[in-house]
Amino acid sequence: MKIGKMDVKNRFVRSATCEGMANPTGEVSNSLIKVIKILAKGDVGVNIPGYMYVHPFGRVFKHQTGIHSDAMIPGLKKLVDLVHEENGKIVFQLAHAGLQPVLRLIGTTPIAPSMRITNPMTMSRPKETTEDEIKDSINDYALAAKRAMEAGADGIQIHAAHGYMINQFISPFYNKRKDNWGDNEENLFRYLKEVIVGVRKVISMDISLIVKLNTHDYAPKDGITPCLAAKYSKWLVELGIDALEIICESTSHSMFNMCRGSVPVKEMVQFLPDKMKPMGEQFFKKMVGKFELQEGYNLETAKIIKPLLDAIPLILVGGFRTVTLMEDIIENKIADFISMSRPFIREPLLVKSIKKNLMKKVSCISCNRCLAALPNNFPIKCYVNKFPEKYKHQLLT
Ligand SMILES: Cc1cc2nc3c(=O)[nH]c(=O)nc-3n(C[C@H](O)[C@H](O)[C@H](O)COP(=O)(O)O)c2cc1C
Ligand code: SF4
Repeated sequence: MKIGKMDVKNRFVRSATCEGMANPTGEVSNSLIKVIKILAKGDVGVNIPGYMYVHPFGRVFKHQTGIHSDAMIPGLKKLVDLVHEENGKIVFQLAHAGLQPVLRLIGTTPIAPSMRITNPMTMSRPKETTEDEIKDSINDYALAAKRAMEAGADGIQIHAAHGYMINQFISPFYNKRKDNWGDNEENLFRYLKEVIVGVRKVISMDISLIVKLNTHDYAPKDGITPCLAAKYSKWLVELGIDALEIICESTSHSMFNMCRGSVPVKEMVQFLPDKMKPMGEQFFKKMVGKFELQEGYNLETAKIIKPLLDAIPLILVGGFRTVTLMEDIIENKIADFISMSRPFIREPLLVKSIKKNLMKKVSCISCNRCLAALPNNFPIKCYVNKFPEKYKHQLLT
């Protein structure tokens, strides 16, 4: 099976999963190396490490991996080498978080296409990007792509989902601009288009270019819906991308649509100062019971989008737990690759078990405690049995 020029040994993708394990400078740490090594040994076809920030102002977590400077390249190369040693492929996901970062971490007000939308998670309003900032941020993706290529990555994934910067530009909910970067569908799409054109210019043709696209923002109003995502998908095909991965949700407005399952209220607010905890608990308690896992929750959208992609592979993520469903999807050509995140956190060797016929269902129960580790600045692990109160970050060297 191929994605662009990339030969992939099987149909499993480890969907990008922020490991929360980089050094505070953004550099790859020994802990991150260990995680990627185990995944590589587990035989996953395409390994996508967690999203990498293309600019320090587009960073969400203290231990997120960076690709914003050349100093990151040697560490990134280590990840590439160990995946290649196991005959796997590695794709770097490039992201700028737009309105999502907290001021405390980036030291300045976050930027976004429009300032009208308050981030309900941080209660802050972004600053509206100027024309120059837009051009600079598009260039940041191209520079990051060049670094990915220098590090030896097999592919690049443009993060156009989860309510981050690109998602904000292409969404009529976040983007209220009346200039060339908003106001109608062509203009909304323009930022993503320019990012793709800019990245393509700097990478060689043997590097695969993948987009992870939001197909539903679940925004309070006006957001991306599968109908608009279908239109965008056709335009992405015309731009010559090599594969499309589809997902839904915006982290600021509908986080548990991305990771359907339980809402771990106590863990989600653990990092907050005591006086803010009751407000946080109230916020998350309203969500309890509303996001029960339905296996393959992006399946219906896949059925709309797949026929529009011609020969370009569709990578489908979202709630895959039983092997028979995965097989059905591939056999019935609903998607070309099965992508998973949480199951690999719990069982990094699951592809091997499936190949040996030893697994009918993955054992992740979608409790979402691994997701709650992110705001707490804990490294990502399966915390189903115990969620720590504190974590020794000095272990992350
Ligand atoms: C802890 C955690 C970190 C994640 N980090 C990323 C990320 O860096 N980039 C991304 O596009 N999606 C990220 N996701 C979303 C996953 O890639 C995936 O789309 C989602 O979890 C649904 O798939 P699943 O049911 O197989 O977990 C993350 C999910 C979790 C649980
Ligand atoms: S903590 Fe473990 S069981 Fe819970 S969602 Fe994450 S990986 Fe799955």
